[in-house]
Order: sequence, then structure tokens, then C-alpha cells
Amino acid sequence: MSPTPVTYVSPTQPASYSWEATDEQVAARYGVDPATIVRFDLNTSPEPPVLAAELLAAGRFETPLSEYPPSDYRRLVAAAAATYEVEPDELLVGAGADEILDLVGKAFLPAGGEAVVPAPSYAMYRVITEQRGARCVAVPRRGPDAGWAMDVDAVRAAARSAAVVWLCSPNNPTGLAEPNGTIERLLADLAEDAATDRREPPIVVLDEAYAEFVGASLVPLRADHPNLIVVRTASKAYALAGLRVGFAISRPETIARLAPYRPPGSVSTVSVTIVTEALRQPAAMLANVNRVAIERERLAGSLTEAGWRVGPSVTNFLLVTFADATTAAATAEGLLRRGLVPRTFGADHPLAASLRLTVRNAAENDRLIEAARGAMRAAAGGGR
Ligand SMILES: Cc1ncc(COP(=O)(O)O)c(C=O)c1O
Repeated sequence: MSPTPVTYVSPTQPASYSWEATDEQVAARYGVDPATIVRFDLNTSPEPPVLAAELLAAGRFETPLSEYPPSDYRRLVAAAAATYEVEPDELLVGAGADEILDLVGKAFLPAGGEAVVPAPSYAMYRVITEQRGARCVAVPRRGPDAGWAMDVDAVRAAARSAAVVWLCSPNNPTGLAEPNGTIERLLADLAEDAATDRREPPIVVLDEAYAEFVGASLVPLRADHPNLIVVRTASKAYALAGLRVGFAISRPETIARLAPYRPPGSVSTVSVTIVTEALRQPAAMLANVNRVAIERERLAGSLTEAGWRVGPSVTNFLLVTFADATTAAATAEGLLRRGLVPRTFGADHPLAASLRLTVRNAAENDRLIEAARGAMRAAAGGGR
């Protein structure tokens, strides 16, 4: 029997990813010097590791630039396998975590199928789901007082008819990890339901883009759950977002189902070379994680002192919530006028009254703190 769907739903208008304005657009719209613009919207790190500049200067890459990278990314796979403590056949390389998510959609989400997302979460899950002609079922997370934890029972119920469940821990944009044991429980529940219904359990994607910031991972769960695909990236703690390297980690049989959808050579030979070394020399990543932890507490403390409501975070970003969506939008506008770019959420988003702000370096964070103080002074009628 064909594994492909019997019905087809036309993705007439799939959700699309929306970015904040580019530096050039911000500069033109607000009359600020583009050199002074700071991106608080992308959850990246302010500087790449020194080894990136060293390797670029040396100019010796995995293959000459006239050639394609090795089709199996052999040395990168070996370095990643050592880092994540898995076997090389449990890994798949992609052009960033985003390409891995896209491959999961292509391999496992039939048109007309369903995917479940504890919402709010990373916007790409919905985009990819709808691009496949599948339906995205958003299951509201418990609120801020419950640490934005997913509602395990509701996710379980929704997943009964789903092909894919998109999980993200620590979660973007809410900044916290799922409470201990909940993902394990959900995986066990899904396996039980699948056995009862005599079908395969849905693929569970666990996006661990921010895992290094908490120093914990659920990669070991793959041993008992071949339907689990963990996603990792070089973009966040490794501070190499521009190189576009991400990984899928799963049991070999699941990787083998994903692999046919992988494009040949989507990761450049420069990226392969630099990320291989970054994985082999984790000191810079660990220093970045420590730096972020210190700056995060300082930034959160100072923004709170200034009068902003800052949620707890274990990541490299903060979620700040305002009185209402209008205040959040006005605050974003005020930041943009100073060349500081926050992540905003659309008016119909559950976080419309919030802004997400990346923890950057001390000097850049100081500009944000100053802006928060100015905004609060202005709101209190004291001018800017
Ligand atoms: C949860 C999550 N997953 C994936 C990504 C994309 O990562 P990459 O740069 O590896 O494509 C992001 C980027 O912000 C993210 O927040």
C-alpha cells in the first residue's frame, strides 16, 4: 500500500515566516545610522568564536572552494556524533535546524495530515506544516504561572490523529524548558495510544536549539523511542548562525527515512570546516553560555528595575510582557527609533502584548536598559 496520503489539501495560503525589518529598512524608516543598529530579534550571539576568523584566514577548507563538500559530511558527522554522544548513523546534517525541520515535514507529513504544536512556539513549525498541505493543530500551553509548560494530556489527545508533534524545549519564545519528566511521559503515552490503535506513533520532533544554555538534552530518549527526532544547531550557543548548520538525531532507522529528502550539499564546505572545529573545541561555546547566563541575569534585573515585566528564561533571550498589545507595539516603536530591533508578535498572536529580546553583549544590553528607563520615564510623564 502506498505510504502517501489518499487525500490532498491544497496549501492555498500556507502561513509564511515573517521577519522583523532589515537593518537597512530600520535605518531608512527611523533615520538611524545602520552601523549602530542592534538585533535583539534573532536570538543569535554577538560575536563568532575566534576560531572562525582563524580558519577563514588560513583558507584551507574541507574541500577546495571549487569543489562540493563531501557528500556524507564525514568529518562533521564524526565531530557531531562525539559531541552529542551518538553513533554517526544516528545523525543527519542540514543547512541549519530549519532545513532539518523542513526535511521532517517532507518525510513524515502527508498532505491532508495533521501536526500538533503546543503554542506559542517557534513559528516555523506551522509554516512547514502548512507548506506540506497539512493542518497545524495548536494546543495552548499552560500560562506563564505554569512556566508555559505544554498541556501533556491535551497534546496527547490531539496527537491521536497526527503524523507529527512539534516540541521545543527550551521553548522559543517563552524561554523555559518543559518540566522534568513531561516529554518522557508524553512519549510513553503516545506509544501506548499507538499500540491501542494498532498504528505507528507520530513522529515527535524535539527542537533543542537552545539546549546548550541549560546543559541538558533528551537525546538519550531515542533509545526507547524511534519516533523521536531531536534537532540541534550551531546557530545559538556556538554563535555560528551565519554558517547554517543543524542536525537531526534519531535512531538509525528513522534517520534512514529522513535521509532521502536531504538535498546534496546544502551545507557549504566553509561551514563544514568551521563547525567541525567548533564542535571539537567546545571551550568557546561554553564561555559563551556562561557569558549569556551572567548577562541574562543582569539584563533581566535591570529591565525589571526599570519597570518592565520580564519572564524567567534559561535561554539567550527574554520575554517581556506589557499591559496590552498597544503598549507592546508602542514600546517596539520606541526601541526601533533608537536602532534596537525587538521581536514583535502579530496582533492575533497569543503574545501580542509581549516582546522577545535577545541577550546580547554588555554594551548592547546597556542601550536596551537605557531605552527601557527612557520609555518608563516617558510613560510616567517625565519626558525621555
Ligand atoms: C526553536 C528554534 N529552532 C530552530 C531555529 C532555527 O535554527 P537554525 O539557525 O539552525 O536554522 C531557531 C532560530 O531562531 C529556533 O529558535
